[in-house]
Amino acid sequence: MPLSLALIGAGAMGRQHHDVIQREPQARLCAIADPRESGRALAQQAGVPGFSDHREMLHSARPDAVIIANPNTLHVGTALDCLAAGVPALIEKPIGVSLDDVTPLVEATRDSRTPLLLGHHRRHNPLIAKARELLATGLLGEMTNVTALWQLHKPDDYFAAPWRRQPGNGLLHTNLIHDLDLLRYLCGEVVAVQAMTSDRLRGLPYADTATVLLRFANGARGTLSASDSASAPWSWELTSHENPAYPPQQDQPCYLLAGTQGALALPQLKHWRYDGQAHWHHPLQAQQETSPTGSALARQLRHFIKVAQAKEAPLVAVEDAARTLALIDTIERAAASERSQAPVIPWEG
Ligand SMILES: NC(=O)c1ccc[n+]([C@@H]2O[C@H](COP(=O)([O-])OP(=O)(O)OC[C@H]3O[C@@H](n4cnc5c(N)ncnc54)[C@H](O)[C@@H]3O)[C@@H](O)[C@H]2O)c1
Repeated sequence: MPLSLALIGAGAMGRQHHDVIQREPQARLCAIADPRESGRALAQQAGVPGFSDHREMLHSARPDAVIIANPNTLHVGTALDCLAAGVPALIEKPIGVSLDDVTPLVEATRDSRTPLLLGHHRRHNPLIAKARELLATGLLGEMTNVTALWQLHKPDDYFAAPWRRQPGNGLLHTNLIHDLDLLRYLCGEVVAVQAMTSDRLRGLPYADTATVLLRFANGARGTLSASDSASAPWSWELTSHENPAYPPQQDQPCYLLAGTQGALALPQLKHWRYDGQAHWHHPLQAQQETSPTGSALARQLRHFIKVAQAKEAPLVAVEDAARTLALIDTIERAAASERSQAPVIPWEG
């Protein structure tokens, strides 16, 4: 029996989820909640009831589970409504816009048996599973440096939706949250941050450009260099082939991980080691892994179905996603002070 799934938020991302649900035999779309006319039109086209209010939808359509893809500032309140109704939810990233915002949700999940999964879908990409496998073999030796790049040019009309121009919806919360989550997943926890940000290009109340220095618990040092106003090929979107809306730049990397024994470039899965003793005058041998294929969103949905059926624990639970969000808080504090700051997790005292 397929899981009956409702969609909350039927904009650009909601429509991607809609398409993935349509292709998944273990799921069946049962309702859409979105206050805009275009949401009701999508519901009509899909032959399911449309609602302007998700609470009314939860009450009337009684879905087995929901996918929340409304604006960032609404994620926490919507997720709390789903917990109150006992309906498992896949919540789009970011989990919220600040740690203060998400603390009530972190606390509510502790007392709840209703599972929540965060939509850090890149963790479900088979490329990332392969990268983790390679790292687990000790390919790098001791990790020394991490370089992450997210340099893209968003078109001006991307900012037409009023919510995208509000604080909590810019480069850091909407985009770098993905990169920071993957860096945590691949390289471990970040224990200190320094940052410089700039809002000079877009004139919006958040950074459009950022350079972040990271110290990982394993001792590695990292940089994340990002802009949503750069005409450059270095981003997960342009290099990973995950979403056909982005014309690919397949030979360009977006993450470079280096260690005492070797190095790894992603998403190419190309790695380097010395044959014998590491020495700058010896030839560094390159090896190219075959890239595994498979849709991250489809795999995430299959995982979510199992999470909703209590057959699997969420790969990205609320507290885990809140730790990634803690890095955004930390970057903002570090940028304001231009000094390094340690993450402060309020619910851990
Ligand atoms: N995982 C990813 O790669 C990815 C990519 C893009 C966006 N996102 C996330 O998805 C979310 C939506 O982004 P988007 O690009 O689709 O934005 P969007 O503006 O295209 O869509 C947002 C939709 O939410 C609707 N909405 C507003 N208030 C609502 C409410 N109270 N209840 C239900 N729906 C409501 C809007 O009418 C709109 O249709 C954001 O949190 C964003 O960060 C994730």
